Amino acid sequence: MNLSRAFLNFLEILDTGTFAENFKNLIILQKSIILAYNLIMIEKIENAAKFHHLDRLDIIRILATDEFDEFLFKTADSVRKKYKGDSVHIRGIIEFSNICKQNCKYCGIRKDNPNAERYRLSPDEIILFAQHAKEKGFRTIVLQSGEDGFFSAEKMAGIIKKIKSLDMAVTLSLGEKTTGEYEVYKKAGADRYLLRIETTDKTLYGNLHPNMSFENRVRCLKDLKKLGYETGTGILVGLPGQSIESIADDILFFKNIDADMIGLGPFIPAPDTPLSKEKGGTLTQALKVMAITRLLLPDINIPATTAMETLHPQGRLMALQCGANVIMPNVTEGDYRKKYLLYPGKIAVNTSAAQNYDATVKMIESIGRKVSITKGFRRDT
Ligand code: 5AD
Repeated sequence: MNLSRAFLNFLEILDTGTFAENFKNLIILQKSIILAYNLIMIEKIENAAKFHHLDRLDIIRILATDEFDEFLFKTADSVRKKYKGDSVHIRGIIEFSNICKQNCKYCGIRKDNPNAERYRLSPDEIILFAQHAKEKGFRTIVLQSGEDGFFSAEKMAGIIKKIKSLDMAVTLSLGEKTTGEYEVYKKAGADRYLLRIETTDKTLYGNLHPNMSFENRVRCLKDLKKLGYETGTGILVGLPGQSIESIADDILFFKNIDADMIGLGPFIPAPDTPLSKEKGGTLTQALKVMAITRLLLPDINIPATTAMETLHPQGRLMALQCGANVIMPNVTEGDYRKKYLLYPGKIAVNTSAAQNYDATVKMIESIGRKVSITKGFRRDT
């Protein structure tokens, strides 16, 4: 049934007689209109899978209801399959310092959290963990930290060069830096950089990030693109004060800057932060944002994130089946992992790097997918 058929029904209804019949027919009419609307939206999702475009208003409509979730997820999964195949890229993440000069209101390792137990790995430890990951089968290392001034650009360059000599791809996630610093990392061989925009709602951004500026964050992303990094960004879904209209703008922002990777997660209130008492985001809404992103940016890399699994024991498995094609197990060894607490309930803080790898492979294979043997750049086939 299509829209014109629904209107024919409407005309037939107008022809009928008694009040009771008319009342009944009005209900039918109402149902027909809803059905017609749903069919239009389904068609829009189908077209987005083909042409990778959705209007802002349609994104809002999809986010505002659970009516289309199942279809949206199925369609995003088929786009993932068409453009990225069944291989899943496994990237090993080393959280090498939780010392941070910033005060993001949602983050458990913000500067003003006196209860965060701070640590910093030595360059030798970082390289050792990368070596172990390489032996285990990882092809990419993600180096993530708070904005820790101890790690100068030169120090980072030394670490990057050593990891590159292991024939691994290097992704950095070190926060906001100067153009010159990004240049130094790139020259040392860094391949990719992750820097979530967190939200494109400037007022909300300002409220959540004391002494930071939205403009500078965008400057960072533009620098990274210009320098030839595969550039990743993303948002927190379900932040207090975040509207679905602003999430629609976030998704259009991803498309606009032609992000190579998008990492999304639900906001999870962290203790000892100004937002500790707030309501968190939901897994479903995060998955929806991810699925729409897959429709609009069909060939990018999208991880099933740890925060998704924190809200549901199968969160990452679900993500892999509605658009995601990357997974990033933690390969930080020892006790450090317990201390890198951006939010509570983080998974896999008690298992070893090797165990995490094996569990990840098992998860991927349990849904008939396979582990990628490439470094997994955006335009790798
Ligand atoms: N809940 C979920 N994700 C968080 N992050 C920081 N704090 C939280 C939280 N409370 C995310 C941010 C950041 C990434 C490294 O971790 O989006 O970019």
